[in-house]
Amino acid sequence: MGILEGKKVLVTGVLTEASIAFATARIAQEQGATVVLSNFGRARSLCQRIAKRLPQEAPVVELDVTDTEHLSTLADRLRDALGLGEGDHLDGVVHSIGFAPQEAMGEGFPEVAWEHAATAFHVSTWSYAALTQACRPLFGSSASVVGLTFDATVAWPVYGWMGAAKAALESTSRYLARELGPEGVRVNLVAAGPLRSMAMKSIPGSVQFEKAWEGRAPLGWSVTDTEPAGKAVVALLSDWFPATTGEIVHVDGGFHAVGV
Ligand SMILES: NC(=O)c1ccc[n+]([C@@H]2O[C@H](COP(=O)([O-])OP(=O)(O)OC[C@H]3O[C@@H](n4cnc5c(N)ncnc54)[C@H](O)[C@@H]3O)[C@@H](O)[C@H]2O)c1
Repeated sequence: MGILEGKKVLVTGVLTEASIAFATARIAQEQGATVVLSNFGRARSLCQRIAKRLPQEAPVVELDVTDTEHLSTLADRLRDALGLGEGDHLDGVVHSIGFAPQEAMGEGFPEVAWEHAATAFHVSTWSYAALTQACRPLFGSSASVVGLTFDATVAWPVYGWMGAAKAALESTSRYLARELGPEGVRVNLVAAGPLRSMAMKSIPGSVQFEKAWEGRAPLGWSVTDTEPAGKAVVALLSDWFPATTGEIVHVDGGFHAVGV
């Protein structure tokens, strides 16, 4: 018996095999979950191709988190994709989505125009609440929502407004935990160390993060191994964290816990 046996889970954000969402979807299936994926536009075609490399090919629904119609129709489309009948529920949602325009990252933080910062917040922060709300009608007496952050307690080089968006994501997660807790919905984040996904590679100078982790993470850290992050997400989706919400679990080799 896997720890997600019988559970139905939406995993957003599979783009390549290096996506944290891909490891999450694979491990979730290995642990017994029925998984549905989502992505948008061209990324959805890539996602459909990658979905074939999972232990069981998963259906992919269209979801651009900035598209209000996509959000308002999501519950019905998930019902169809998962074949949910009367009394069936969605047990878990993984928000593995992040984007900031190039103009919002790199150096020159105070010079960035609102429109660029706004895009980062729209896609990377507000969407966490919007996705949760869109899935809310499908939740039963308990559900688990999990998102991905990059430790936002400090200011990083080159991360720019994506870092500010992540700080707001961490706060958003606590507000969601507060409001949805009475409905039995847990809301948590995994703070992953640097991983060479498309999102991270698109940040100019992100190799600095890789260098910072080298030699400092007490457990060591591999920038190509998404399995530890995926396992933590799956653990938070499972019934093994029944009294945990508004939490941030660090999956960074212990980097956050030590000084230089
Ligand atoms: N890679 C890292 O080092 C790292 C570390 C900590 C946290 N994270 C976070 O993990 C999450 C997943 O990123 P990843 O590193 O696996 O990269 P990734 O590029 O594989 O995934 C990012 C996903 O976001 C999706 N996306 C972007 N805009 C969207 C929109 N408008 N609507 C719907 N989906 C959209 C992309 O299509 C893509 O699938 C992100 O929140 C990221 O910030 C990444």
